[in-house]
Amino acid sequence: MELTTLKVRLDIKDDLIRQEFTRIVSSEEGFATYGPGDSGAADLLILQLGDRPEEEILQVQQILGSGTAREVFLTSKVLKSEILIEAMRAGVKEFFPQPVNKEEVKRALLKLRGQQSTQKPQKAEGPKKQGKIINVIGSKGGVGTTTVAVNLATSLAEADREKMVALIDMNLLFGEIPLFLSIESVFDWMEVAKNISRIDSTYLLSVMSRHNTGVHVLPSPAKVLDEFRVTPQVIEALLAQMRTMFDYIVIDSGQVLDDISRTVLKLSDSLIIVTLLSLPCLINVKRLMDHFQKFGYPLEEDIQILVNRHHKRSMISLEDAEKSLKKKIYWNIPNDFQTTMSAINQGRPLSVMDSASEITASFRELAAMITGKGQKKKSILPWR
Ligand SMILES: Nc1ncnc2c1ncn2[C@@H]1O[C@H](COP(=O)(O)OP(=O)(O)OP(=O)(O)O)[C@@H](O)[C@H]1O
Ligand SMILES: [Mg+2]
Repeated sequence: MELTTLKVRLDIKDDLIRQEFTRIVSSEEGFATYGPGDSGAADLLILQLGDRPEEEILQVQQILGSGTAREVFLTSKVLKSEILIEAMRAGVKEFFPQPVNKEEVKRALLKLRGQQSTQKPQKAEGPKKQGKIINVIGSKGGVGTTTVAVNLATSLAEADREKMVALIDMNLLFGEIPLFLSIESVFDWMEVAKNISRIDSTYLLSVMSRHNTGVHVLPSPAKVLDEFRVTPQVIEALLAQMRTMFDYIVIDSGQVLDDISRTVLKLSDSLIIVTLLSLPCLINVKRLMDHFQKFGYPLEEDIQILVNRHHKRSMISLEDAEKSLKKKIYWNIPNDFQTTMSAINQGRPLSVMDSASEITASFRELAAMITGKGQKKKSILPWR
């Protein structure tokens, strides 16, 4: 089931109140707040009344009349009945006193969604998605596999907001994605796998955590349950369902090559091997590629080598690595300990941590190449 995303503009001067509304709106499926670069008409404007409420209500009338926003909700610290009456006359649908009651806002958003879906001409249901599974594995522990998986997923979602992006953590013991994205999740993929017979898109969307960037996250199990064993069949069913719902499914596979990760490998459309330009890592890349050749999957053309923590004065150059691996390096991400570490410590994607940094630009360009949107650098590798 695909929801049309309703765009919400927040015109709220008070930082704390704005953050609160941003959190509520972003946590609701099918709603997105305006980013700095977004333009065009909003489905909903949430406006905080300031010192001159009468004038602001007049502006609301103009906004609704001009179609700049389809609906307006108001919030204010003080509530005067005559202002409220004027606001309703101007066409305001909801009024939220402060402190804001989260449940009240959620109810109003759901009501709005119901109204919009009956007002808007429904899009004919197209064919189901055939999502692309992008599997990210590390040539060694600590090379930045999780950093790459998380920031690739968030950059894909930011590159094209129409696309649905999922991020799955396959590290059975030490999954860290919730930390990287400050997500508190009640459900994990083991929990979902236990209910595989019930799985449909509504159920999956309700148990996955939606990050502000739009990425839907399925974390790894917080504890491994002895009474339930995940089987390759379970993972197959889960990924088959996810393919019909998401455009991109990014998987952090860590470094294991057990039955489960081999099933994921078999189903992946592309495999990104994260490596450093160090001898032990490159030897491992070679070993991995030998294994894959023996397995018969993934195909050589579906394997992409990504060099992480690249710096220009590296003892082993990208050209050296290509020669020894007999394979082109697909992408490289610059070394930036400061930004990656702060991002992890604050639980933010790199694009939020420092949108102007070189490392963020590198992920943005990688996502643009994959989605075909934005700055494309198809055959020109960034270091050439
Ligand atoms: N491009 C980069 N530049 C500098 N430091 C980086 C970069 N990418 C990742 N790191 C750092 O490397 C460390 C490990 O990163 P990360 O957790 O993503 O690796 P991992 O391969 O998933 O590790 P694990 O094997 O524990 O799962 C982190 O401290 C992170 O800040
Ligand atoms: Mg990791």
